[in-house]
Amino acid sequence: MTTPVLRTLTALRAATRSWHMSGETIGVVPTMGALHDGHLSLVAAAKAACDRVIVTIFVNPKQFNQSSDLDNYPRTEAEDARKLERFAVDALYVPEVDQIYPEGFATNVSVGGMTDVLCGAHRPGHFDGVATVVAKLFTQTAADKAFFGEKDFQQLMVVRRMARDLDIPVDVIGCPTIREEDGLAMSSRNLLLSDRARTKAPRLAMEMEAVVRELGQGAAFQALQSRAIAGLEAAGFTGVDYFELRSCADLRLLERPAEPARLFAAAWLAGVRLIDNIDVPVFSG
Ligand code: PAF
Repeated sequence: MTTPVLRTLTALRAATRSWHMSGETIGVVPTMGALHDGHLSLVAAAKAACDRVIVTIFVNPKQFNQSSDLDNYPRTEAEDARKLERFAVDALYVPEVDQIYPEGFATNVSVGGMTDVLCGAHRPGHFDGVATVVAKLFTQTAADKAFFGEKDFQQLMVVRRMARDLDIPVDVIGCPTIREEDGLAMSSRNLLLSDRARTKAPRLAMEMEAVVRELGQGAAFQALQSRAIAGLEAAGFTGVDYFELRSCADLRLLERPAEPARLFAAAWLAGVRLIDNIDVPVFSG
């Protein structure tokens, strides 16, 4: 089925109003396009949980802190629409910039605390851009449920906090990271990797898994961290923004996973910034 494409807020509101009036629940999957199987797993989760599903594609200028990154971001709308056909979603919302940020737009949504670390510390303003656009997409779509990948775990936490703090009545649902066969977490940015860089990219997840295994045997994190960073550099990564063990509850740094924890990493490979995070089983030995 060809997916109906809506480009204006007026058209979107007309659709969502009639769905809500018929008592139907609405799910939204916010994306920046360049859809891969990770996104499609979110669409499948939304289809299973909601009567109506909207996928949004908006390459949000406010969340890019480098204009070259915004310019290089892959844009593949026609192919994205084709990939969605088999899911029979109810709308693909692809707004122009003025539908999200109309002339004179002056509001910034900023979530405190948890945005000071990890990607927040390395990409100034990034999470304000995310929180602002997602707040807009939540209110524009009036969705009952919203689906986000755990691949961007900090983003998921920020979005949850924002929706709670602003009393936006949406249930924010996190879905597991989908990986390529060689372990690389799926990401639209993987399209930017050269063939050569692509062969090296799985090293990030490999180093992370090795660290998680040793944490499970009682090793302290610090030595594992240095070894993993050295391993990444030896494999051709040109910089590691962070490789950290943090609490799932509040992103506090941890030395041992004595509480629910995740290992977070961001590293540069051939000019592309890859991020990943994995669950670390609690070890109380
Ligand atoms: O994860 C993304 O693709 C983006 O950050 C999001 C949530 C669509 C907001 O622009």
